Amino acid sequence: MDHSACEALDGAEVAAALGGEAAGFSVQILPECDSTNSRLLADPPPDDGRVHVLAADVQTAGRGRRGRVWQSWPGASLTFSALWRFEPGAPVPAGLSLVAGLAVARALEELGVEGVQLKWPNDVLIHGHKLAGILVELLPGRGRTPAAVIGIGINRRLPPDACVDYPTGVTDLAACLTQPPGASQLLGLVLLQLHRLLDIYAAAGFGALRGAWQQRNAFADLPVRILGEAEELAGICLGADEDGALLLQTADGLRRVLSGDVSLRVA
Ligand code: BTN
Repeated sequence: MDHSACEALDGAEVAAALGGEAAGFSVQILPECDSTNSRLLADPPPDDGRVHVLAADVQTAGRGRRGRVWQSWPGASLTFSALWRFEPGAPVPAGLSLVAGLAVARALEELGVEGVQLKWPNDVLIHGHKLAGILVELLPGRGRTPAAVIGIGINRRLPPDACVDYPTGVTDLAACLTQPPGASQLLGLVLLQLHRLLDIYAAAGFGALRGAWQQRNAFADLPVRILGEAEELAGICLGADEDGALLLQTADGLRRVLSGDVSLRVA
């Protein structure tokens, strides 16, 4: 049996994976919690200059976008959330979900995963099948520096009888790599990429990362539909603009769709 696939998260292993950058993170690991996003939103740690991360081996009430459930089985996925604080005057958070997706994509590519694609605004796909999802939620300012909770779930080894609803199907890391990394190593790699890319985003906005995102756009130049807008929109997917909004070439001209409660489907 491949033990790397089902072992619990380990703080020392995460720190080893973070290497020289470990001091910039505070990583708390729980064997079980309802939802790492919910916990960080309800009780945000004080700002001490570090990136605060909460990871759980299993979530009992994991949440996805648009009110969906993010399912959990022991050893099946890596589930964690990071609290990101914005500097005053930082770029609008519309691109955050895309930046987080790019960070996951880069970490996977570092591990040798092929065919990594990004589906606007928040899915990481492998050859069209969903491997990871991202849920970004804003923490109300109330006099503090505005902050976002960036929640990431990555399928590591789904149970054979897992029934996960996704239009083009789901996949896991075990199907992509002969030697999938342990959960702690994977967490460290994604956190390093997230930190790097969020620093770029904070300094220069999504425009500085747009090219990298566009290269991995799963629906580049394909006909798509946007569901969840007041009216359903159909057009050719031109990718993301400088703010992270989706650009759609419709019969009535170019439309910008902001990352809200919408869903993109291939037409
Ligand atoms: C989606 O694809 O709809 C988003 C899924 C996000 C799941 C992650 S798992 C860690 C964090 N905690 C949650 O409850 N959700 C996010």
